[in-house]
Amino acid sequence: MEASHTIPASSGSAAETPRRGFFFTASRMALGAGFALLGFAGCLWTLGIGRFLVPNVVNRPPNRFKVGRPADYPRGKVETRYKEEFGVWVVHGDYRGKPQIYALRTVCTHLGCITIWQESERKFKCPCHGSGFRPDGLNCEGPAPRPLERLAIRIADDGQLEVDRSRVFQQELGQWQDPDSYVSV
Ligand code: FES
Repeated sequence: MEASHTIPASSGSAAETPRRGFFFTASRMALGAGFALLGFAGCLWTLGIGRFLVPNVVNRPPNRFKVGRPADYPRGKVETRYKEEFGVWVVHGDYRGKPQIYALRTVCTHLGCITIWQESERKFKCPCHGSGFRPDGLNCEGPAPRPLERLAIRIADDGQLEVDRSRVFQQELGQWQDPDSYVSV
């Protein structure tokens, strides 16, 4: 009679060891990936919350700023140095025969592009659709339907001209008659 053949206990373990190792490694990788995913989601969540907690800070220039003394503005001068930071032209020009210093917004009254001062042609020109404005701000060509807007200007206590961007004056509404919209010189 043939002796029964028994499988040694050790042979099963030896065959399964690589498989167990594989499952062990795979589960560790899955666990690691899960943690990584959780960490990533946590970061996103934190950033999302952070956006609500931290206000959007925009560094805007102040509304009021000094632009020098009236004597710094000879007749006909168009000061361009305040264009970039404040969006303003400061001009010693004439309006209705009266010499004045006034501050014009650089924004074109057609669709809001920024005008350019062309000294050779003595006019503000809009690069977008060709509108032109005279030194006094009146529209003279192109599709702009109205003059540039003035900003409040005054002589401060220290004798300097001070522009206030929070107050706007529109010629077509008769607001350029307001003495706060110019300084007589
Ligand atoms: S935006 Fe200036 S002409 Fe159109």
